[in-house]
Amino acid sequence: MTTDNADIARKPALQKPLAVMLFGAPGSGKGTTGKMLTKLTGWPHLATGDLLREQITRKTSLGLEMQSILAAGQLAPDDLVSRMVGDRLGWSDCEAGFLLDGFPRTIPQAEGLAQWFSGRNFRPVLIHLWVEYNEILRRLTGRRTCSNCGAIYHLESTPSQVPDVCDNDGAALTVRADDKEEVVLQRLQTYQTQTWPVAETLRKNGILVEAIECGEMDPESVADRIRWRLDRIGGSIAKKNKPE
Ligand code: AP5
Ligand code: MG
Repeated sequence: MTTDNADIARKPALQKPLAVMLFGAPGSGKGTTGKMLTKLTGWPHLATGDLLREQITRKTSLGLEMQSILAAGQLAPDDLVSRMVGDRLGWSDCEAGFLLDGFPRTIPQAEGLAQWFSGRNFRPVLIHLWVEYNEILRRLTGRRTCSNCGAIYHLESTPSQVPDVCDNDGAALTVRADDKEEVVLQRLQTYQTQTWPVAETLRKNGILVEAIECGEMDPESVADRIRWRLDRIGGSIAKKNKPE
């Protein structure tokens, strides 16, 4: 057991599992941080954007329907996304804690989720990643994503060792269809009008909201800061010691 896990293991056993919502503008680092926290905690990282893109890649009927919505920087319908998340949260791997990325992002989604929490034994916490506008544009225009494993890179901050090739599996790196400048501007507007008010709605529903200014922090420091906040809140974020 590592020192970190030994520290966490001293926590009382009766604490509720944490349900962490990674919240923030496009490019604020939800996906990057979510992947790191998953490694640290063993919790599933449920990213609604990834789930929708998977449908598009597989050319399912849902994917074909969603393709033009995502490409335009608009939001998928609330009932569809909420149902998708609700089904996934029913899996047993969510029982010890989970990380939501990109959900909720409208008031109806937030109200539905608050209702879901009210009947369950989780300690929900929203982590708001704050990054200023110019840094968001820099991040999104330089992002590259592995077409196979979904690993996230940045041309300047976190480049792959070989240009356009994933370090993990050698697959090609791609530019996301919605990272074109005009779509990025639409996504930022959608965020301002429909998603920004969500944090306040959840706070009013009694859900803890923690903000982290992370525009000048590297990804490891952001994950460390979140981990520190979660520890302070008192959740148990120990990774199960599975044999490798
Ligand atoms: P989604 O995939 O969730 O996109 P998003 O919210 O716009 O966020 P991004 O994935 O673009 O950014 P991120 O915050 O994950 O940043 P990342 O870690 O990649 O949603 C896509 C679409 O799906 C939506 O537009 C909508 O159509 C639909 N959708 C999804 N959820 C929905 C919902 N709930 N309801 C309805 N529709 C929904 O990082 C970005 C870049 O920055 C990378 O290059 C990375 O390497 C770099 N970077 C990250 N952290 C740092 C750091 N600390 N320092 C320097 N660089 C960093
Ligand atoms: Mg993302």
